[in-house]
Amino acid sequence: MSIHRTCMAFGSLALVLLANCAPSSDSSDNHWPELTSSIPVDADLEEHITSLLAQMSLEQKIGQMTQPEIQYITPDEVRDYHIGSVLNGGGSFPGGAKYSSVADWLALADAIYDASMDTSTGGLAIPVIWGTDAVHGHNNVIGATLFPHNIGLGAMRNPDLIERIGEITALEVATTGIDWDFAPTLAVVRDDRWGRTYEGYSEDPEIVRDYAGRMITGLQGQVGTGQFLDASRVVATAKHFVGDGGTDGGVDRGDNLSTEQQLVGIHAQGYFPAFEAGAQTVMASFNSWNGQKMHGNPYLLTEILKGRLGFDGFVIGDWNGHGEVPGCTNESCAQAVIAGVDMIMVPEDWKAIIENTIAQVRAGEIAESRVDDAVRRILRVKIRAGLFEKGRPSSRPHAGDMSLVGAPEHRAVAREAVRQSLVLLKNDGGLLPLARDLDVLVAGDGADNIGKQSGGWTISWQGTENTNADFPGAASIFAGIEAAVSSAGGHTTISEDGSFTGQPDVAIVVFGENPYAEMMGDLETLSFCAENSESLAMLRQLKSQDIPVVSVFLSGRPRWVNAELNASTAFVAAWLPGTEGAGVADVLFRDTVGQVNHDFTGKLSFSWPNAPMQTPLNRGDSIYEPLFPYGFGLTYNDTDSLGDDLPELECPS
Ligand code: GLC
Repeated sequence: MSIHRTCMAFGSLALVLLANCAPSSDSSDNHWPELTSSIPVDADLEEHITSLLAQMSLEQKIGQMTQPEIQYITPDEVRDYHIGSVLNGGGSFPGGAKYSSVADWLALADAIYDASMDTSTGGLAIPVIWGTDAVHGHNNVIGATLFPHNIGLGAMRNPDLIERIGEITALEVATTGIDWDFAPTLAVVRDDRWGRTYEGYSEDPEIVRDYAGRMITGLQGQVGTGQFLDASRVVATAKHFVGDGGTDGGVDRGDNLSTEQQLVGIHAQGYFPAFEAGAQTVMASFNSWNGQKMHGNPYLLTEILKGRLGFDGFVIGDWNGHGEVPGCTNESCAQAVIAGVDMIMVPEDWKAIIENTIAQVRAGEIAESRVDDAVRRILRVKIRAGLFEKGRPSSRPHAGDMSLVGAPEHRAVAREAVRQSLVLLKNDGGLLPLARDLDVLVAGDGADNIGKQSGGWTISWQGTENTNADFPGAASIFAGIEAAVSSAGGHTTISEDGSFTGQPDVAIVVFGENPYAEMMGDLETLSFCAENSESLAMLRQLKSQDIPVVSVFLSGRPRWVNAELNASTAFVAAWLPGTEGAGVADVLFRDTVGQVNHDFTGKLSFSWPNAPMQTPLNRGDSIYEPLFPYGFGLTYNDTDSLGDDLPELECPS
C-alpha cells in the first residue's frame, strides 16, 4: 500500500497521524504526502499535444490560457483571439437573459464551440471549454434541480449520496452544452463568520475527506473506466486551493495564518482524495497564506500542487484573482502565470491581458516553457474530456434534453438529501413528529420562499431577486407542509407575519438568513437577533399564547440563536435545502397511519456556538464548549433536556 493510501486509510485520525505519514525521508519535512496522478501518462496523448504545440503561435497559446466571461466576448472574438475557455459567472446568462431556456444555453454553447473550431482566420481548431458554477445543482438555469448547499450535505454523513448528487448535477449541466463545473468546494471552514461557510461541507477535514473524491467521481465519472468524462459527465474543479476556509476572522479572501502542518492536516485534506479520483482542474484561491496571495505562490501552486502532489490537470485562476497579487492588475500579471496559474479567469480585461502576457513572454519575463506547460495541461484536460471528439454541444447525447433538467427522479434524490440534511436541535416534550390531521399555522418569511430556502448561487449570484415563479417544479417548505397535512384531513394556514384567527394546534415558523454569497455574507459576530427581530417577536408571541412552536431555521452556518431556541418548543437546523422544500415536511410529520415517516438522521458538521463571538469553534479545540457539538443531532428516540432558559444577551444593534 503506497504511503498515500496508508495515510488515506487513517480517516479521522489523519490530523494527528499525517505527521507520521510524512513523505520519505529524502523530502523536506513539510508534511505534504507524495502523490502521483491517478491517470497513467498516455504517450500517444502527450505526442498529440506536442504536435499541436508545435503548430501554435504564441498568440494561440496565450489565447488558450485566457478565460473571458460570456457577457464580455463574442463568438467571433473567441475565434480571432484563439480563446481556450469561457465562463458564465453567477447570475450571468446567454445574452444576459435570466429566463434563458436550455435551448438558449445550448445555442450559445454551439456558437462559441463553432468559433473555437473555425480556422478561417488562421489558427488551429481547438475546442473551447465552458466553465460554470453548478455548486448545488445547475443553479444558473431555470427549472434545474437545486440540492441543499454543502453545509446541509455535510450533515447527511452520506458519501454515496454525494456521488449521486454529483452525477445528477453533471447530467443537468451537460444538457446545456457546458463541459466544466467549478465544483466541489473543498474548504474546511474554521470561522463561521465567513460568507462562504455554506459552500463548505464541514469545519472538520473528516467529512471533506470522505466527500471530496466521491463528488469528483459523481461529476467526472469513475477514473480509469469508460464512464470517465463521458457524455453525461463534466470536468470538475477542486477549489479553492488552498486554505480558503481558514482565513483570520473568516474574512473572505483574507489571510490564512496556518502553519504548513495545519495547512496540510486541515485545509488540504480534501485535495488528496480529489486527486485520487482524478480531479482535472484546481481553482486557485483568493486567500493569502501568511501574507502571500495564493495566485502568486509558486511554492504551493507549482512545487507542491504539481510536484509533490503530482497534479497533472490545470490550474484555473479565480475571478480576477491574479489582479490581487501585489504588482499585478486585472490586465497584467506575469507573477500568476509564473507561480503556476495555467488559465487566467479574466472576465472583462481579456484583450489587455493577452497583449500584456505575450509581451511578457517576448521580453523573457515569462519563460515560453512555462507557457508550453500551461497549454499542455489545458490540452491534456480537453483531450481527456473528449472535447476533440464530442463535436458540437448540441450534437452530444444529452444536449437539450429537457426531460433531464429538474427530472422527477432528480428531484426525488434532492428531496432525500433534504431529509438527511435536517438536524434536530430541540424537541421539548417530544412535540415532533406531528400528526398530519392538525390545524397548522405556517409562519415566517421563509415559509413560502424558495429563494430564501435556496440561498446564494441561486439563479443570481447572491441568490436574491428571485420569486417562487422562478423555480418551476420546485416546492417551498410550506407547499410540502400543506400537501402532508391536507392528505390526512388537516388544515394549514400560511401567515408570513404569524397572525391568525382561532387557535392552531401547532405553529411552524420558518425563518433565517436571507441569501448571500462570498464576501457579502461575511459577519462580525454570529449573533442573529439583529436580523431576526420580527421572527423572534413572533416566536415569543406564539409561545405566550401557549401554541407549540416548531422553528425551522434557514441558514448558511450555525448562528447564535439562544433567544429563538428558548421561544421554540422544537428547533430544526434546515440549512439551505434548495428546490425540494417538501423534504422538511417528510420528517416533521408522521405518515398517514401515525407512524414515524422519516426520522431525523442529520448530525452537525459544524459546531454550534453558545455565544455570539464563540468563533472559531471547532472539534478538537483545546477549549471546546459549544452549545451543540460537532456530530450532535437528536432523533425521535432521544429525550430532549435543553429547556427554555439558555442565556440571552441584549441584542447588539
Ligand atoms: C467567484 C468564486 C469562485 C467561482 C468564480 C466564477 O468569485 O470565488 O468560487 O467559481 O468566481 O464564478
